[in-house]
Amino acid sequence: MKITLNGRRREVRTVDFDVRQNEVVLIDQRRLPHRFQFSRTRNFRQTAVAITNMTVRGAGAIGAAAAFGLAQGARAFRGKDSQAFEAHVDAVFKTLAEARPTAVDPLNAMRQVRGRMSGTVAAKQKQALQAAREFADADVAECCAIGRHGARLLRAGMNVLTHCNAGALAFVDVGTATAPLYATNKRIHIFCTETRPRAQGAALTAWELAQHGVPHCVVADTAVGHLMQRGEIDLVITGSDRVLARTGEVANKIGTYQLAVLARRHRVPFYVAIPRSTIDWEMRRGVDIPIEERDEAEVLGAATAAGWRRTANPGSRARNPAFDVTPARLVTGLITPVGIVKPGELRRLRSKLG
Ligand code: MRU
Repeated sequence: MKITLNGRRREVRTVDFDVRQNEVVLIDQRRLPHRFQFSRTRNFRQTAVAITNMTVRGAGAIGAAAAFGLAQGARAFRGKDSQAFEAHVDAVFKTLAEARPTAVDPLNAMRQVRGRMSGTVAAKQKQALQAAREFADADVAECCAIGRHGARLLRAGMNVLTHCNAGALAFVDVGTATAPLYATNKRIHIFCTETRPRAQGAALTAWELAQHGVPHCVVADTAVGHLMQRGEIDLVITGSDRVLARTGEVANKIGTYQLAVLARRHRVPFYVAIPRSTIDWEMRRGVDIPIEERDEAEVLGAATAAGWRRTANPGSRARNPAFDVTPARLVTGLITPVGIVKPGELRRLRSKLG
């Protein structure tokens, strides 16, 4: 993505890899929008921590971070013993897979990397990095394709609502829900839901849109019903952390389900933009998707430029499910790299999307 830093335009990726140092390089998303800085992880354990503490976040971005983390772990192995190497890679895989449970992208990304590793230890180490790089590049290419397909839904002057952050920061670059905006010349206005409790919409999506000069405003999550009732929203596009091919159910940031219910109530089309890595081909029921429960402190406070501040009554407790699952019948369509499809059509398209 192109950003302006201290008056200078520069091109950056959300997730990258430094081969010489064997380090994963991440835009530190915990600091945005107040400070832009990169963070480096020196080993796979640090990479897993960066995923858990949301230095890097968003389904595609944690997919790429896990792919690079697996390569990083594989490359750190010393010796030629194939069995010991495989045991080591198993442990790296497990650590990264457990860093965040809801998005399927890290699993798909690491399976892809592992599937490419064969031969001697040295050959596998080389192939792991190559495969991680290919995953990252494919992520960008797929987001561009999503942009081209999604742009067909846009008409000049539209008001589009998006939730959380499924933009360039949530992927290696470009993003999914925001990709159609970057692929069109039409003037579109975006409503970014604040997305409590971590405010990815207010902090990250708004920052990205401002960097791209896209007209937008932030709304409280609770304002959406009112805006839809008044006819102020024409279209909703969100991302997803896991779409079940068998049922078409969509796991996404907490609050997505209620947006989809409101959109149906007010006949607003509700689209979900996803790359291939977000599709779960095996899971049978949305209720089986592991929903991450995060620290209650996130709900009991709010992020400020000066750090985290408690806003809730002292002594009160909280629940903090980070994702929810939207049934397929509430989803108008999935914007994929191969076109816009109905959630129920995914299985038929496995040869193209699998
Ligand atoms: O908890 P996060 O910020 O990692 O959540 C991910 C998201 O931003 C959303 O759920 C998004 O719509 C899907 S990721 C492209």
